[in-house]
Amino acid sequence: MPNRTLVIAIDGPAASGKSTTARLVAERLGYTYIDTGAMYRAVTLAVLRNGIDPADDSAVSALARNLQISFLRDPDSGALHTLLNGEDVWQQIRTPEVTRNVSLVSSYAGVRTPVVELQQRMGEQGGVVMDGRDIGTMVFPNADLKIFMVANLDARAARRHVELQHQGAEIELDNLATELAERDRQDSTRHHSPLRKADDAIEIDTSGLTIQQQVERVLELVKERSGEEEPVSLPG
Ligand code: DC
Repeated sequence: MPNRTLVIAIDGPAASGKSTTARLVAERLGYTYIDTGAMYRAVTLAVLRNGIDPADDSAVSALARNLQISFLRDPDSGALHTLLNGEDVWQQIRTPEVTRNVSLVSSYAGVRTPVVELQQRMGEQGGVVMDGRDIGTMVFPNADLKIFMVANLDARAARRHVELQHQGAEIELDNLATELAERDRQDSTRHHSPLRKADDAIEIDTSGLTIQQQVERVLELVKERSGEEEPVSLPG
């Protein structure tokens, strides 16, 4: 495996398989997995808890500037939990209410600027797999490997459905597909750092792939990239 620590960016629309793949790839490489969507979700949770209107750009941005977002590794599972002002909000950031409002909250420059700075600090030493919407385009435009993960809407809705069922939530498949499509529309049409494939990103369509296949495909690309960096040994 690689002999230097890379920055690996995985972007793509909601439920395309980014976070599961990113987490498992990081595990296999001994890297840190950074879920950047969780940061925008934590800001959204704070907005809702403070009774701020998510449509009020200046109030949301003022709040975002004063929030402390950090991560803590769960010693049992190894998963990174998101902390909001020191409180573990791992579960609270996954509620339907946060999901419904996160695209709007994350569309403001006043929210993105401090969050992107934090992501850049977290990744500056390398050895990270970061998933999100703008990692390869804005956060790490010089990332060593950029993946753009896509999957058709039916496959994504079906996956999210299974995920939610495991969490005990019953949401109609059709409603999930509509919600995902709406979030994609908002994330890719916003003014600041919209979701888009970086010119040098490699697209992986996960519609017909198993998680294992997705992980192996990314690991192959990591291997190729690390190989490119190896010094050429000269004869004699
Ligand atoms: O990955 P996720 O579904 O948890 O992300 C939640 C939202 O956060 C997503 O709809 C858009 C926003 N987001 C973003 O704007 N930029 C990122 N790098 C990651 C997420």
